Amino acid sequence: MMIKKMLLTTVFAAAATGALAQSKEVEMVHWWTSGGEAAALNVLKENLQKQGYTWKDNPIAGGGGTQAMTVLRARVTSGNIPTAVQMLGFDILDWAEQGVVADLTPVATKEGWDKVVPEALQKFSKYEDKWIAVPVNVHSTNWIWANKAVMDKIGAKPPTSWDELIAVLDKAKAAGVTALAHGGQPWQDATIFDSVVLTTGGAEFYKKSMIDLDPQALSSDTMKKVFERMAQLRGYVDPNFSGRDWNLASSMVIKGDAAMQIMGDWAKGEFVNAGKKPNEDFLCFRFPGTQGNVTFNSDQFVMFKVGPERREAQNALATATMDPNFQSAFNVVKGSAPARTDVSDAAFDACGKKAIADLKEASAKGTLMGSMAHGHANRAAVKNAMYDVISRHFNGQIPTDQAVKELATAVKSAS
Ligand code: GAL
Repeated sequence: MMIKKMLLTTVFAAAATGALAQSKEVEMVHWWTSGGEAAALNVLKENLQKQGYTWKDNPIAGGGGTQAMTVLRARVTSGNIPTAVQMLGFDILDWAEQGVVADLTPVATKEGWDKVVPEALQKFSKYEDKWIAVPVNVHSTNWIWANKAVMDKIGAKPPTSWDELIAVLDKAKAAGVTALAHGGQPWQDATIFDSVVLTTGGAEFYKKSMIDLDPQALSSDTMKKVFERMAQLRGYVDPNFSGRDWNLASSMVIKGDAAMQIMGDWAKGEFVNAGKKPNEDFLCFRFPGTQGNVTFNSDQFVMFKVGPERREAQNALATATMDPNFQSAFNVVKGSAPARTDVSDAAFDACGKKAIADLKEASAKGTLMGSMAHGHANRAAVKNAMYDVISRHFNGQIPTDQAVKELATAVKSAS
């Protein structure tokens, strides 16, 4: 309550001095710093510039947004409020709870967002029946990106089961290529974990363990198998993986220095940005054993409460983001699917079309589930507790049995 009061005071103080801010300026805090991400953001920037807005870019490097969220908290606490912030899942709801985010319901009602934004996304874009975020896209994490020439050279097809995956990784290793391009950062380890949980236990187990935080599921034999498999995958990464940024890992696959990367579909943005084509230069396929299921994350723009002179820019940004043409143009470049159900897949490449179709299928089956790694399964405290155990285990600091025990206890104390 005390924190809420402090935040409200700083936000309103900022609103009062807001006259200093330019009403035609859009200042965006985000973590889209890779080539593909920046190219996608450029679509929005140009769109707004055409409408007479100046774009003040505030990129905070660090995939998954952990660093961006730290910077944001410091900025809001000191009353230095940006026009909008890129945010994920439960972080949005956390900020909404503080009472400091802007109510976008008037724009949303006028433009009929309720009818076109999928239910799974609205869960994070609305708080107490009010629209408090604008969904930009739908990404999903259970993907693999492979270099086609390398796959051809080792005589491998996209694997469809765990055993087939291991067989392909073994072939790559035997051929002297890095089998798995990976960046050892907690959110990247957790991104792999999303898929390994899903393939090992299936959709029900993913829901029970990652979303419902069922203590039995968290400490089950299935979870033990998940950690065993994580350790197995660790055997296929190169010695320099520690701390590597995700886009540098994508680049290893693009260049043919590595066979594949397990990563969300923002990786496709890197391939496309490098002039590569699906099915010619690279292959995209669902993590073996997770076909038909999707672990998703949706980037959304959250606006904070600001003075009236800055609201016009916020509304313009909201309208520009929800524009169906923008949703197509942006997501074609970003690697994600549109956040509206009424956008045609015509402009999308084969991987984009598959992403859109898979989302539809999973949503109909009830197996469209929030990504733990990207803040759509639980609050940040739980997510970070999981990150910690997953990464220490992946780095060989704790054995599998201990990781299973620690996962259950860390989640319990964080939730
Ligand atoms: C995700 C985000 C994506 C992409 C990725 C890597 O959390 O949803 O848009 O930016 O991080 O930075």
